[in-house]
Amino acid sequence: MANILLPTFLTITLFTLTISSSFSTQTPTIYEILRSNGLPMGLLPKGVTNLTYDDQSGRFEVHLDQACNSKYENELHYDVNVSGTLSYGMINAVSGISAQDLFMWFSVKEIRVDVPSSGLIYFDVGVVHKQFSLASFDTPRDCLASVISNDDQLISQTVPKIQSRKLGHHEEHTIAVL
Ligand SMILES: *[C@@H]1O[C@H](CO)[C@@H](O)[C@H](O)[C@H]1NC(C)=O
Ligand SMILES: *[C@@H]1O[C@H](CO)[C@@H](O)[C@H](O)[C@H]1NC(C)=O
Repeated sequence: MANILLPTFLTITLFTLTISSSFSTQTPTIYEILRSNGLPMGLLPKGVTNLTYDDQSGRFEVHLDQACNSKYENELHYDVNVSGTLSYGMINAVSGISAQDLFMWFSVKEIRVDVPSSGLIYFDVGVVHKQFSLASFDTPRDCLASVISNDDQLISQTVPKIQSRKLGHHEEHTIAVL
């Protein structure tokens, strides 16, 4: 029995070692790095280039050909340069990602998932946490060209006066959040 199983075991071990070493010699993509940090690959859209990644600090930076929007449960906006600091289940010091909510754009500061997973993902936009279904970030999405002006980034300036009168409760929400 042992005589039959031992060669099989060795073959499987060698096979596994071959596979893992051929993976580690390739430069991982940002999507693989996200996944190895317990984060969904779809946090970054298709088409990111020029990855720089420091696996000591977790600091990464990627570029997009143009600023663009991707549609998830909410709309996300990506700047030309997106960066952050990766640790397991979390990206800190996020730069270059904004999330739309209640017609306003919020700069995303931090993204995290529960470990072990609860199926939710949290976007910290400074004043509040937004939570989304983790599954919606499974795969990288298309990202369509778009621009947000600097004014749009400021919560208080996003809702024009006429619109805030029409959406009275909306304005209250804004004030409450601030
Ligand atoms: C990204 O890399 C390409 C070539 O791979 C280069 O032409 C381009 O200038 C780089 N962009 C940035 C922003 O570093
Ligand atoms: C993006 O990063 C590149 C290289 O790091 C820099 O030259 C460029 O000015 C940045 N663009 C923006 C819009 O911040």
